[in-house]
Amino acid sequence: MDIVYDADLSGRNSFGMKVKAACLVEYDDVAELESISRDSSLPRPFLHMGGGSNLLFTKDFSGTVLHSRIRFVEEVPHQDAICLRVGAGVVWDDFCALCAARGLWGPENLSSIPGECGAAAVQNIGAYGREVSELVLNVECYDLQEHTMRTFSRDECRYAYRDSYFKNEGKGRYVVTAVNYMLSREASPCLEYGNLSARLAGEYPEASGEQGLAFTPEMIRRTIIGVRDEKLPSPSRVGSAGSYFRNPAVGADFFRELQEKCGAPVPHFENPDGSIKVPAAWLIDSCGWKGRREGGAGVWEKQPLVLVNADGNATPGEICRLEEKIRASVLERFGICLEREVEHV
Ligand code: EPU
Repeated sequence: MDIVYDADLSGRNSFGMKVKAACLVEYDDVAELESISRDSSLPRPFLHMGGGSNLLFTKDFSGTVLHSRIRFVEEVPHQDAICLRVGAGVVWDDFCALCAARGLWGPENLSSIPGECGAAAVQNIGAYGREVSELVLNVECYDLQEHTMRTFSRDECRYAYRDSYFKNEGKGRYVVTAVNYMLSREASPCLEYGNLSARLAGEYPEASGEQGLAFTPEMIRRTIIGVRDEKLPSPSRVGSAGSYFRNPAVGADFFRELQEKCGAPVPHFENPDGSIKVPAAWLIDSCGWKGRREGGAGVWEKQPLVLVNADGNATPGEICRLEEKIRASVLERFGICLEREVEHV
């Protein structure tokens, strides 16, 4: 394990905030995690981080940042599916690449999402019609309170849109050490999102038809990476934490009134519970924020749901002020209060 005091976190958060932690500990296995959790000399509180791709440091962190280097992928026997057990510190997209290379279906639509496998199971990452919770068999955790291991079944994880037990009641108590994913060799393409299906057919005409059953996970992975590269800032060049806000859900009556008030069709999707999801990107775009800059902070010109560290020197305060201005203008114009998807630390 490595312990660094007064650690520079600027290369460890995708927003590129220039902040420090009183202490940073990287551990390689559960035994090391246990000894860390019992070590009263380490500054508290603990903050467990994956790739740092879904948070905004608003200031220096006075406790200890923990980071897992538990990195393995192994097949475990399962009666119905192919089950891969994956260490929490494995880079999520490396896992996606490995599955696609082996012809395994499951995470292909989630290709290229920054971050690590442990955090993916906490955030319930999602994109292009899929959420990681659909693949999770169970999640292995270390309990910082009881100093024991506990395995959470998928139901116990209480997954919802970008949400889980680990972000609520279990927050700060459980550290994910490994995730067991269920994958399949049988073609199961999910192509309903936007123009994904048409785009794949254009890129791989020989494999289209038969409801896309001749596509391979690798083809879908490549197409998804192409779509993301066109819309989202390249993490190596522009700092961001992906979608800054969640897509809000409103009641059917509220939505009808909104539609009337706008006098034009409002893009929307019906949720299984009858509520209506309105794209936050559309709300922000309609308020004229796309591509705008406020100091070092900016709104990405191709996807206004993404706030960026536009000049590489944005301060946490500048990002927070931009967040507040966007929230205020969407609330004033549409009566919808945007909720943050990115966690403030
Ligand atoms: N839109 C606009 N203007 C734009 C862009 C989009 O009005 O400039 C509207 C359009 O109506 C479009 C809709 O927003 O149809 C949805 O846009 P998009 O397909 O880009 O998806 P999103 O709902 O904005 C969500 C996720 C993304 C994920 C994409 C694709 C959330 C908070 N975000 O964005 O996830 O990649 O779907 O599945 O649910 C992330 O979580 O960091 C992330 C990038």
